[in-house]
This record gives sequence, C-alpha cells and structure tokens, in this order.
Amino acid sequence: MNETTSPVALVTGGARGQGAAHAEALASAGLRVVIADVRDEDGEKTAASLSERGLQVRYLHLDVTDEAAWKETVAQIEAEDGSLDVLVNNAGIIRVTPLTALDLREWELLQKVNTTSVLLGIKAAAPAMARSGGGSIINVASTAAHRGAEGYGAYSASKAAVLALTRAAALELAPDGIRVNSISPGGVETPMNDDEPKGGTSSGAPLGRRARPEEISPLVVYLATEASSFVTGSDVLIDGGVTIR
Ligand SMILES: NC(=O)c1ccc[n+]([C@@H]2O[C@H](COP(=O)([O-])OP(=O)(O)OC[C@H]3O[C@@H](n4cnc5c(N)ncnc54)[C@H](O)[C@@H]3O)[C@@H](O)[C@H]2O)c1
Repeated sequence: MNETTSPVALVTGGARGQGAAHAEALASAGLRVVIADVRDEDGEKTAASLSERGLQVRYLHLDVTDEAAWKETVAQIEAEDGSLDVLVNNAGIIRVTPLTALDLREWELLQKVNTTSVLLGIKAAAPAMARSGGGSIINVASTAAHRGAEGYGAYSASKAAVLALTRAAALELAPDGIRVNSISPGGVETPMNDDEPKGGTSSGAPLGRRARPEEISPLVVYLATEASSFVTGSDVLIDGGVTIR
C-alpha cells in the first residue's frame, strides 16, 4: 500500500448496485476510489453524488472484457493518483437458461464478462500494485459458485472459475505483497435481479430475504484494508445462511 497518501481503489461495475455501495464504503473508509463501468450515465451520477458528500470518487469508462482498455485504465490511475492499491473485480452479468437451451454465445458472454474480466484485471493491476509495494484484489464470486441451481449452469461455472483464479493468483502474487480473495454473496437486491426469476436462488435463505448491497460492503472494506493483512486465497460466503442447507 501507498503509505504517504490514502490508498487508491478501483471498483469495476461501480455505476450501480453492489459496486456503487462498495465505492461508497471504501471512500467512507478514507480510500480514493475510481469506479469503472460501461454504464457511463449511471457511473457519472454515482461518482457525482458521492463526491458531493465529500468522498473522493471519480468515474472512468472501462469495458472489463477489453484487455487494452484495462492497461490504459491502470496506467491512467497510476499517472493521476500515484498508485493502485485495491482492485474490486465486481462487474458481472447473469443469464438464467437451462443448459440444453443455452446458446453458445450466451455461455461465452458470461464467461467473458464474469471470468475473463477477473483474469484481465489481475494481469493489469498486479504489476502496478507490485510497483507500490503490494495491494489487495477482491474478486466477486457468488453462492452460485458453491451450489447447483436449475438454469444457473453458465453463471455458476463462470463464478466457480473465479474461485479457482483467486487461489492461483493468491499463490503467484503473495511474493509481491498482493493479497487476493473472493467473496460469495447470496441474493442481493440490485438491478441484476431483473435478469433472474423472482426470488433468484436465495428464496430459501435462513435469514428469509435478500441482502441490501450495503450489507456486503463492510466485507469488501475489510478485505481491502490492513485489518485483513493475514487473509489471502480465501473465499468468504456472505449469504444469509443459504449455503448451509
Ligand atoms: N445481485 C445478486 O443477487 C448477486 C449475488 C451474488 C453475486 N453477485 C455478483 O455481484 C456483482 C455485482 O452485481 P450487482 O448485483 O451489483 O448487479 P448490477 O447489475 O446492479 O451491477 C453490475 C454492474 O456491472 C456492470 N458491467 C456489466 N458488464 C460490464 C462490462 N463488460 N464492463 C464493465 N462493467 C460491466 C454493469 O453495467 C453494472 O453496473 C456481479 O459480479 C454479480 O455477478 C450478485
């Protein structure tokens, strides 16, 4: 981490939903935050409303499936902010289709946006983090990585791969002082729910409801900061108990 100024965090998919909540929580914890998304209007609005409250948040356009754009974004952050200390690989999409009806293009899109993006984020961010003495990468998986659900095969596979990537990255980047963890939220109330059947996979959660995005953010802040200095290679479930059934 950069010790002279406040650390810098990049949150992908930060225009709305959980990413916007994570940006707010990280900035409230004193980090300078860059939110990146393809929804430019939402992203600019989110950054503006957080900035108005005195938080250090700005918006950049980034399609997380574009390797060249990743390199440019990280270079821009390093040039303008001095370092990149935290990456939250949060951008994602969902499609719910039975496997026998699944179009190959739909499968490939989910793997690209949910999984390849995590690889590209790690490839782009890790060298910058190593240059400033270390950092923390948080990959957003899902309870779908841990359990089966009808129609969720492509999404589950994309998120299970995020767990595998997290473990490999944690091993490879530990020598550079970079910690890599994932989180597996259960159902969270966000616009993503519009692309799921009512109730999603979390209707059986012991806590009996979906999470609010701001209930997930404290875990992201924990993994982003020195409070979690001995945590790497972990996946943390945050799911209202849905996976214990
Ligand atoms: N909502 C849930 O129930 C739930 C549960 C577990 C995990 N998740 C995961 O949490 C993360 C955040 O999702 P959310 O619930 O906030 O949904 P959301 O749809 O509100 O937010 C996802 C964001 O990712 C952005 N995004 C999509 N494709 C992108 C791309 N190619 N480049 C850049 N940004 C892109 C979207 O524009 C959007 O702003 C996702 O990875 C999702 O899979 C969601």
